[in-house]
Amino acid sequence: MANVAAMTMPSPLCDNLRLPVIGSPLFIISGPELVIAQCKAGVIGSFPALNARPQAQLDEWLHQITEELAEYNRANPDKPAAPFAVNQIVHKSNDRLEADLATCAKWQVPMIITSLGAREDLNKAVHDWGGITMHDVIDDRFARKAIEKGADGLIPVAAGAGGHAGTISPFALMQEIRSWFTGPVALSGSIACGASILAAQAMGADFAYIGSAFIATEEARATDGYKNGIVEGKASDIVYSDLFTGVSGNYLRQSIVNAGLDPDNLPKGDYSTMNFGSGGNTEAKAWRDIWGSGQGIGAVDKVGTVAEMVARLTTEYQAAKASLLTRSAY
Ligand SMILES: Cc1cc2nc3c(=O)[nH]c(=O)nc-3n(C[C@H](O)[C@H](O)[C@H](O)COP(=O)(O)O)c2cc1C
Repeated sequence: MANVAAMTMPSPLCDNLRLPVIGSPLFIISGPELVIAQCKAGVIGSFPALNARPQAQLDEWLHQITEELAEYNRANPDKPAAPFAVNQIVHKSNDRLEADLATCAKWQVPMIITSLGAREDLNKAVHDWGGITMHDVIDDRFARKAIEKGADGLIPVAAGAGGHAGTISPFALMQEIRSWFTGPVALSGSIACGASILAAQAMGADFAYIGSAFIATEEARATDGYKNGIVEGKASDIVYSDLFTGVSGNYLRQSIVNAGLDPDNLPKGDYSTMNFGSGGNTEAKAWRDIWGSGQGIGAVDKVGTVAEMVARLTTEYQAAKASLLTRSAY
């Protein structure tokens, strides 16, 4: 199933995709094992640069990912690995951004996903080494700003997404963005089954951007308690709050209870306390103890390997396509 996302995506990135999916970056949770398994399974894998600590470890991770995928491609020329992406938090508190970008330039990372800030010089630097940039946004205003600053593609983060999320329906977001933007789009928020991947494409997205479902995999760097929380959880177990990082996001109710807090009466957070990049900060602690999760986890019923998860998504995606054909009598 090559070129599934070829509608608006530069071809080097979609040539080796077997499902139009990006495994989204997950703070603390995604490391080389997860990314490599995702790419081998035929979906784009990604991780936040800040997960590699100290900064020098980013070079080691990129070395490992590049080598292992190249070796895999030599052994599997008929089924090569999908490309990978690195996520950069573009926020004034991220004091590693320049160093991390230089490391990504060294390894010519195929795709950079930017969050929290759009910067023209960063987009230019990525283009200089032949990479592409996708910027995540929670509304159309930020989407327009990101493209003005030179991002190649957009990641609309809709209501119900895990981690920092917006409040806008995916239908509304996609409709507004697709009214003016023809470039690559990866839709994010509560996508955890094959039918939802097809739905994202029907709405005009090139990719489904999937985070929480991948937490319940053997390759994810999450505790068993967290993985089981994803398996057992449903949409009604997700709480939206800005208390933990200063930015509104979705979290598993049980982890908030475990921390001794009342999920139904959380105080307001403070954006000025938000802090990324200094290492071992309160931000990391928040994500370690308070478990980020989107509303789509009802589709996840076991902890398995990434390959099993992608196989499930693929079977469901094909079934949804077939079912749509039998139902669309109009
Ligand atoms: C635990 C967790 C950590 C996350 N960390 C990051 C991050 O470091 N950078 C980022 O851009 N997005 C981050 N996200 C957001 C995801 O990349 C993605 O937008 C979201 O998970 C998609 O929604 P879903 O979880 O419902 O699939 C995180 C999400 C979760 C659940």
